Amino acid sequence: MQIFYSINSLQDFLKSQRKMGRSIGLVPTMGALHKGHLSLIDASKIQNDLTVCSIFVNPTQFNNQQDLAVYPRTLEADCQMLESVNCDVVFSPNAQDIYPTLPNLKFDFGDLERVMEGKFRLGHFNGVGIVVSKLFNIIQPDNAYFGQKDLQQCAIINRLVKDLSYNLKLNVCPTQRETDGLAMSSRNRNLTPEQRKIAPAIYKSLQKAVELLKNKNSSESVKLLIVNQLDNIEGIKVEYFEISDFETLQPINELSEGKTALCIAAFMGTTRLIDNVII
Ligand code: PAF
Repeated sequence: MQIFYSINSLQDFLKSQRKMGRSIGLVPTMGALHKGHLSLIDASKIQNDLTVCSIFVNPTQFNNQQDLAVYPRTLEADCQMLESVNCDVVFSPNAQDIYPTLPNLKFDFGDLERVMEGKFRLGHFNGVGIVVSKLFNIIQPDNAYFGQKDLQQCAIINRLVKDLSYNLKLNVCPTQRETDGLAMSSRNRNLTPEQRKIAPAIYKSLQKAVELLKNKNSSESVKLLIVNQLDNIEGIKVEYFEISDFETLQPINELSEGKTALCIAAFMGTTRLIDNVII
């Protein structure tokens, strides 16, 4: 596995690989890797000759400076994990290289970002759009891999790829879960042992909501019930729970099989977790 810290050295290497006709898969991450990330590496390795994992904690997508400050940075452990799954290349640039100047450019993804994460984390998707565009431009992958856990991010990047005519295929891979159902996330490591014990209640509530919707309960009643039940658990505070069209991400009143996404964000202390399921 090769590790590159600068854009120039990575690009020289990738140029030589492309000359040999090798296809490139990109797995963009902010590090603090877990098995969910490794499943993206596995998917990329199946479809590409060369897999690049970028590790960059992107300051422009944090609307909360405290969140940025405590975001786990574990490059050495990350590289060991990547080596164990035979990732070919790690790209770990510094902020100065990615942002020699702060961009004036602003992305607005319209209705897609007026809901859920975009509504509660103002400017977040502008930062994601900017850094993902930069990574696509720097690496020019044939395929890029993202996890379904960040469903809204996937929808936004899908739009970005179309709007800017990126010549790559976006691959959305299933959410990986712990055995008790908790969605794998870099933020899970910030949970106290007590919080970790109750965190699976978030996924359980999504499963319960699916059952209620399939039994013809209205979206409104399901939303109320689920939010009340979760908020009654000490240590969990729901920020939003939405029942939406899985492509447009706009709220819907009735279940439409194969097209409905149930999305949730909840705080456990200062740690914010998100999850979703698609019916
Ligand atoms: O999902 C993430 O880890 C980040 O939002 C991404 C896509 C790597 C951009 O910084």
